[in-house]
Amino acid sequence: MDMLLIEGGCRLSGEVAISGAKNAALPILCAALLTAEPVTFTNVPQLKDIGTLLALLRQMGVKVSVEGGAVTLEASGLNNPVAPYEMVKTMRASILVLGPLVARCGEARVSLPGGCAIGARPVDQHIKGLQAMGAEVTVEHGYVRACVPRLTGARLFTDMVTVTGTENLMMAACLADGETVIENAAREPEIVDLANCLVAMGARISGAGTDVIRIQGVERLHGATHRIMPDRIETGTYLCAAAVTGGEVRLTGTSAAYLDAVIDKLMDAGCEVVTERDAIRLTAPERLQAVNLRTSPYPAFPTDMQAQFMALNCVASGVAMIRETIFENRFMHAVELQRLGADIRIDGNTAVVKGVERLQGAGVMATDLRASASLVIAGLIADGETRIERIYHLDRGYERLEEKLAALGARVRRLN
Ligand code: UD1
Repeated sequence: MDMLLIEGGCRLSGEVAISGAKNAALPILCAALLTAEPVTFTNVPQLKDIGTLLALLRQMGVKVSVEGGAVTLEASGLNNPVAPYEMVKTMRASILVLGPLVARCGEARVSLPGGCAIGARPVDQHIKGLQAMGAEVTVEHGYVRACVPRLTGARLFTDMVTVTGTENLMMAACLADGETVIENAAREPEIVDLANCLVAMGARISGAGTDVIRIQGVERLHGATHRIMPDRIETGTYLCAAAVTGGEVRLTGTSAAYLDAVIDKLMDAGCEVVTERDAIRLTAPERLQAVNLRTSPYPAFPTDMQAQFMALNCVASGVAMIRETIFENRFMHAVELQRLGADIRIDGNTAVVKGVERLQGAGVMATDLRASASLVIAGLIADGETRIERIYHLDRGYERLEEKLAALGARVRRLN
């Protein structure tokens, strides 16, 4: 299994290009299931999760062609509306095929994703929404089975704000008979990107980006071309990495528009952040100040940036309180950071991080995608060498990570 070796102590500087957003690309690729015509997506990041999804779509009968960052999908031969456990278990986002399959084929059999490292993550809201739209949904032998001749528009309300839940229901509603209203919808920018793609395919959607989304169902959708938005979490991760090393970087091909909460915290920590049209510049102070944070649905501080900010607080001046309100088990990086000398106390969903002057390199284990990113950030400022095992988590969500870090001056290499 690959591991990452980081020699800490380099100040990051220079320019790096941000990739397309994983969490936008995954639902948007699934949207191609809604039409028989070819749909082309550009700025698709080359990631393990994307490869997994394309393999899943291929075994359903979708024609897939990939040319660098451009992916064309043609679902005219869609003949197997099934997502098997073997594929779904490695990537929970596979549940995003459920809504489009039921809408287009009138049936679907999708494995339940099961729990994952950061929490139980049920999909009851996805199921409840499809049932409200008239689908008969059963859970048998670990699979969600849904069938309905045609979905009917309905008024949907989710018990909590769910990102993929909103996306699944929004896609399903595009081909339903009549109007669907999703209340308590997630407002993440990736939902707006998905809605823009669906509209380009002929869907009638309003309100994406607010907590009430209205979809007028249409008979069919058509082909389109769509460019995937920049990855705001990758952007935030490189900003944190630059910040902890006292660096100065310019991130291109990205936008500060979706990063208010993150940039606010970086400024509170003492960084200077300048936003350009398609780029962000950050200059870090000599020593960062500790910053408190609480994760919440967009537009508040994202749970996917919590681990990276914990790493930042480990070496900041002062004490930070971090509250995680989205996932029940998302502090697993804390024990690994402690191995590097961090002073962290966990009490339920709260972590208290007391900044130390220095971290020390050590062997650590990646536990999930963003946890891994926090270990990379900590490794960049730890004295000596940090060895990160199980980096397949990183490969799921960060395109060419070591290459990009090396371009900024980090001493990092991958060992097989
Ligand atoms: C998405 C993101 C993930 C991010 C998360 C929160 C993708 C592919 N993944 O995950 O990176 O960390 O949003 O911003 O976009 N819940 C239920 N029942 C449901 C659905 C959700 O109880 O049917 C709960 C979850 O367990 C969690 C909370 O709702 O506690 C929010 O989860 P959700 O927004 O659905 O996360 P994902 O869409 O899986």
